[in-house]
Amino acid sequence: MSKIYNFFPLSIYRGKIELPENTKKEMVKEIISMKETSDQGLKPSQNAWTGDTHGYEYLFQNKKFRTFYEEVEKHVIKYMDHFELDVSKLDFYFQRSWATLSNSKEHISPHDHSQSNLSFAYYLKKQPGDSKLVLVDKSKHNEFIPQLFTSPSINRNKIFKKRTLNNTPRINIEAEEDDIIIFPSKTLHGTEKNINNNDRISISADISVLAKESKNLEHLTPPFAEWKKFNK
Ligand SMILES: [Fe+2]
Repeated sequence: MSKIYNFFPLSIYRGKIELPENTKKEMVKEIISMKETSDQGLKPSQNAWTGDTHGYEYLFQNKKFRTFYEEVEKHVIKYMDHFELDVSKLDFYFQRSWATLSNSKEHISPHDHSQSNLSFAYYLKKQPGDSKLVLVDKSKHNEFIPQLFTSPSINRNKIFKKRTLNNTPRINIEAEEDDIIIFPSKTLHGTEKNINNNDRISISADISVLAKESKNLEHLTPPFAEWKKFNK
Protein backbone atom coordinates (compact mmCIF):
# COMPACT_ATOMS: atom_id res chain seq x y z
CA MET A 1 0.00 0.00 0.00
CA SER A 2 1.33 3.45 -0.86
CA LYS A 3 0.82 6.68 1.01
CA ILE A 4 1.32 10.44 0.48
CA TYR A 5 2.43 12.67 3.31
CA ASN A 6 1.55 16.38 3.12
CA PHE A 7 4.16 18.27 5.09
CA PHE A 8 4.88 21.99 5.65
CA PRO A 9 1.33 23.32 5.50
CA LEU A 10 0.07 26.89 5.31
CA SER A 11 -2.62 27.11 8.00
CA ILE A 12 -5.30 29.76 7.50
CA TYR A 13 -7.77 30.60 10.28
CA ARG A 14 -11.46 31.25 9.66
CA GLY A 15 -13.84 32.41 12.39
CA LYS A 16 -17.00 34.44 12.84
CA ILE A 17 -17.47 37.80 14.59
CA GLU A 18 -21.11 38.36 15.49
CA LEU A 19 -21.53 42.08 16.14
CA PRO A 20 -24.89 43.74 16.94
CA GLU A 21 -26.54 44.98 13.71
CA ASN A 22 -26.47 48.63 14.85
CA THR A 23 -22.72 48.42 15.63
CA LYS A 24 -22.09 47.10 12.12
CA LYS A 25 -24.25 49.87 10.62
CA GLU A 26 -22.25 52.50 12.53
CA MET A 27 -18.99 50.98 11.29
CA VAL A 28 -20.20 50.92 7.68
CA LYS A 29 -21.33 54.55 7.95
CA GLU A 30 -17.98 55.57 9.40
CA ILE A 31 -16.01 53.81 6.65
CA ILE A 32 -18.13 55.29 3.85
CA SER A 33 -17.58 58.77 5.29
CA MET A 34 -13.80 58.10 5.47
CA LYS A 35 -13.82 57.24 1.81
CA GLU A 36 -15.85 60.31 0.91
CA THR A 37 -13.59 62.70 2.83
CA SER A 38 -10.25 61.15 1.84
CA ASP A 39 -7.89 62.28 -0.88
CA GLN A 40 -8.65 60.34 -4.07
CA GLY A 41 -5.71 61.86 -5.98
CA LEU A 42 -3.45 58.81 -6.07
CA LYS A 43 -6.13 56.22 -6.68
CA PRO A 44 -5.94 54.60 -10.11
CA SER A 45 -9.27 53.27 -11.40
CA GLN A 46 -10.04 49.54 -10.95
CA ASN A 47 -8.29 49.60 -7.57
CA ALA A 48 -10.41 49.29 -4.45
CA TRP A 49 -10.33 52.14 -1.90
CA THR A 50 -7.99 51.17 0.94
CA GLY A 51 -7.94 53.30 4.08
CA ASP A 52 -4.23 52.76 4.81
CA THR A 53 -3.20 54.72 1.71
CA HIS A 54 -5.75 57.48 2.34
CA GLY A 55 -4.89 58.61 5.87
CA TYR A 56 -7.00 56.09 7.81
CA GLU A 57 -4.43 53.52 8.90
CA TYR A 58 -5.20 53.46 12.65
CA LEU A 59 -8.82 52.36 12.67
CA PHE A 60 -8.36 50.84 16.15
CA GLN A 61 -8.15 54.39 17.55
CA ASN A 62 -11.78 54.97 16.56
CA LYS A 63 -14.12 54.22 19.51
CA LYS A 64 -16.85 52.90 17.21
CA PHE A 65 -14.62 49.92 16.38
CA ARG A 66 -13.69 49.01 19.99
CA THR A 67 -15.89 45.90 20.33
CA PHE A 68 -14.70 44.68 16.96
CA TYR A 69 -10.99 44.76 17.93
CA GLU A 70 -11.76 43.02 21.24
CA GLU A 71 -13.28 40.18 19.24
CA VAL A 72 -10.36 40.10 16.79
CA GLU A 73 -7.95 39.62 19.69
CA LYS A 74 -9.80 36.48 20.79
CA HIS A 75 -9.59 34.99 17.30
CA VAL A 76 -5.88 35.74 16.92
CA ILE A 77 -5.18 34.03 20.24
CA LYS A 78 -7.19 30.97 19.08
CA TYR A 79 -5.13 30.87 15.87
CA MET A 80 -1.97 30.77 17.99
CA ASP A 81 -3.32 27.62 19.67
CA HIS A 82 -3.02 25.86 16.33
CA PHE A 83 0.75 26.42 16.46
CA GLU A 84 0.94 25.34 20.14
CA LEU A 85 2.36 28.73 21.12
CA ASP A 86 2.41 29.80 24.75
CA VAL A 87 0.77 33.23 24.37
CA SER A 88 1.59 34.14 27.98
CA LYS A 89 5.20 34.61 26.79
CA LEU A 90 4.24 36.90 23.90
CA ASP A 91 2.89 40.42 23.42
CA PHE A 92 0.61 41.20 20.50
CA TYR A 93 0.21 44.62 18.93
CA PHE A 94 -2.07 45.96 16.23
CA GLN A 95 0.45 48.10 14.34
CA ARG A 96 -1.99 49.46 11.77
CA SER A 97 -5.52 48.71 10.65
CA TRP A 98 -7.72 49.99 7.84
CA ALA A 99 -10.85 49.37 5.85
CA THR A 100 -11.18 48.54 2.18
CA LEU A 101 -14.18 49.37 0.06
CA SER A 102 -14.77 47.79 -3.38
CA ASN A 103 -17.35 48.77 -5.91
CA SER A 104 -18.07 47.34 -9.36
CA LYS A 105 -14.91 45.70 -10.76
CA GLU A 106 -12.44 47.25 -8.33
CA HIS A 107 -9.95 44.77 -6.93
CA ILE A 108 -6.71 44.51 -4.92
CA SER A 109 -3.66 43.04 -6.70
CA PRO A 110 -1.59 40.33 -4.96
CA HIS A 111 0.75 41.74 -2.32
CA ASP A 112 2.09 40.87 1.12
CA HIS A 113 2.66 42.83 4.32
CA SER A 114 6.30 42.03 4.94
CA GLN A 115 6.71 44.53 7.82
CA SER A 116 4.16 42.57 9.84
CA ASN A 117 3.76 39.07 11.35
CA LEU A 118 0.04 38.31 11.23
CA SER A 119 -2.69 39.90 9.12
CA PHE A 120 -6.43 39.41 8.78
CA ALA A 121 -9.38 40.25 6.61
CA TYR A 122 -12.80 40.64 8.25
CA TYR A 123 -15.88 41.04 6.08
CA LEU A 124 -18.11 43.78 7.46
CA LYS A 125 -20.24 43.90 4.31
CA LYS A 126 -20.13 41.15 1.71
CA GLN A 127 -22.73 39.66 -0.59
CA PRO A 128 -22.30 36.10 -1.93
CA GLY A 129 -21.29 37.32 -5.44
CA ASP A 130 -18.66 39.84 -4.26
CA SER A 131 -15.00 39.14 -4.96
CA LYS A 132 -13.23 36.55 -2.85
CA LEU A 133 -9.93 36.74 -1.02
CA VAL A 134 -7.21 35.13 -3.15
CA LEU A 135 -4.15 33.51 -1.58
CA VAL A 136 -1.09 32.89 -3.72
CA ASP A 137 1.55 30.29 -2.85
CA LYS A 138 5.08 31.69 -2.93
CA SER A 139 6.95 28.61 -1.70
CA LYS A 140 5.45 25.94 -4.04
CA HIS A 141 7.28 23.02 -2.44
CA ASN A 142 5.58 20.57 -4.81
CA GLU A 143 6.38 22.42 -8.04
CA PHE A 144 9.16 20.08 -9.21
CA ILE A 145 9.40 21.74 -12.66
CA PRO A 146 9.67 25.55 -12.58
CA GLN A 147 6.32 27.19 -13.53
CA LEU A 148 4.57 23.82 -13.77
CA PHE A 149 1.69 25.08 -11.65
CA THR A 150 1.45 28.62 -13.07
CA SER A 151 2.21 28.35 -16.80
CA PRO A 152 -0.76 29.46 -18.96
CA SER A 153 0.34 27.17 -21.83
CA ILE A 154 0.58 24.13 -19.56
CA ASN A 155 -2.92 25.01 -18.48
CA ARG A 156 -4.19 25.52 -22.07
CA ASN A 157 -2.71 22.22 -23.20
CA LYS A 158 -4.43 20.43 -20.32
CA ILE A 159 -1.22 18.89 -19.02
CA PHE A 160 -3.04 18.51 -15.70
CA LYS A 161 -6.11 16.22 -15.72
CA LYS A 162 -7.52 18.15 -12.80
CA ARG A 163 -6.52 21.02 -10.52
CA THR A 164 -6.53 20.14 -6.84
CA LEU A 165 -4.94 21.52 -3.66
CA ASN A 166 -1.87 19.47 -4.60
CA ASN A 167 -1.12 21.35 -7.82
CA THR A 168 -2.63 24.83 -7.47
CA PRO A 169 -0.56 28.00 -6.97
CA ARG A 170 -3.57 30.04 -5.74
CA ILE A 171 -6.84 29.50 -3.95
CA ASN A 172 -9.98 31.58 -3.43
CA ILE A 173 -11.28 31.71 0.12
CA GLU A 174 -15.05 31.34 0.36
CA ALA A 175 -15.58 33.85 3.15
CA GLU A 176 -18.99 35.30 4.06
CA GLU A 177 -20.05 38.51 5.77
CA ASP A 178 -18.94 38.42 9.48
CA ASP A 179 -16.09 36.01 8.74
CA ILE A 180 -12.54 36.77 9.80
CA ILE A 181 -9.64 35.16 7.94
CA ILE A 182 -6.24 35.30 9.67
CA PHE A 183 -2.98 34.41 7.93
CA PRO A 184 0.79 34.97 8.14
CA SER A 185 1.49 38.48 6.80
CA LYS A 186 4.10 37.11 4.39
CA THR A 187 1.35 35.24 2.48
CA LEU A 188 0.75 36.77 -0.94
CA HIS A 189 -2.92 37.80 -1.15
CA GLY A 190 -5.36 39.96 -3.10
CA THR A 191 -8.95 39.95 -4.29
CA GLU A 192 -10.56 38.36 -7.38
CA LYS A 193 -10.48 40.37 -10.60
CA ASN A 194 -13.44 41.10 -12.90
CA ILE A 195 -16.10 40.49 -10.27
CA ASN A 196 -18.94 42.92 -9.74
CA ASN A 197 -18.80 44.21 -6.16
CA ASN A 198 -21.63 45.92 -4.40
CA ASP A 199 -20.04 48.11 -1.70
CA ARG A 200 -17.99 45.22 -0.38
CA ILE A 201 -16.31 46.35 2.87
CA SER A 202 -13.53 44.54 4.67
CA ILE A 203 -11.28 45.51 7.56
CA SER A 204 -7.65 44.42 7.79
CA ALA A 205 -4.83 44.88 10.26
CA ASP A 206 -1.17 44.12 10.62
CA ILE A 207 -0.19 42.52 13.92
CA SER A 208 3.29 42.28 15.43
CA VAL A 209 4.18 39.52 17.87
CA LEU A 210 6.96 40.36 20.35
CA ALA A 211 8.63 38.57 23.22
CA LYS A 212 7.40 39.55 26.68
CA GLU A 213 10.84 38.75 28.11
CA SER A 214 14.02 38.88 25.99
CA LYS A 215 16.50 37.25 28.39
CA ASN A 216 18.41 34.37 26.73
CA LEU A 217 16.20 34.62 23.67
CA GLU A 218 17.08 35.15 20.02
CA HIS A 219 14.89 35.64 16.93
CA LEU A 220 11.83 37.16 18.59
CA THR A 221 11.57 40.95 18.61
CA PRO A 222 12.33 42.22 22.17
CA PRO A 223 9.60 44.00 24.18
CA PHE A 224 8.68 47.38 22.71
CA ALA A 225 8.99 49.11 26.13
CA GLU A 226 12.76 48.38 26.19
CA TRP A 227 13.54 49.97 22.81
CA LYS A 228 15.49 53.23 22.55
CA LYS A 229 14.58 55.78 19.93
CA PHE A 230 17.44 57.71 18.22
CA ASN A 231 17.97 61.25 19.56
CA LYS A 232 18.95 62.53 16.07
FE1 LIG B 1 -3.37 43.02 2.21
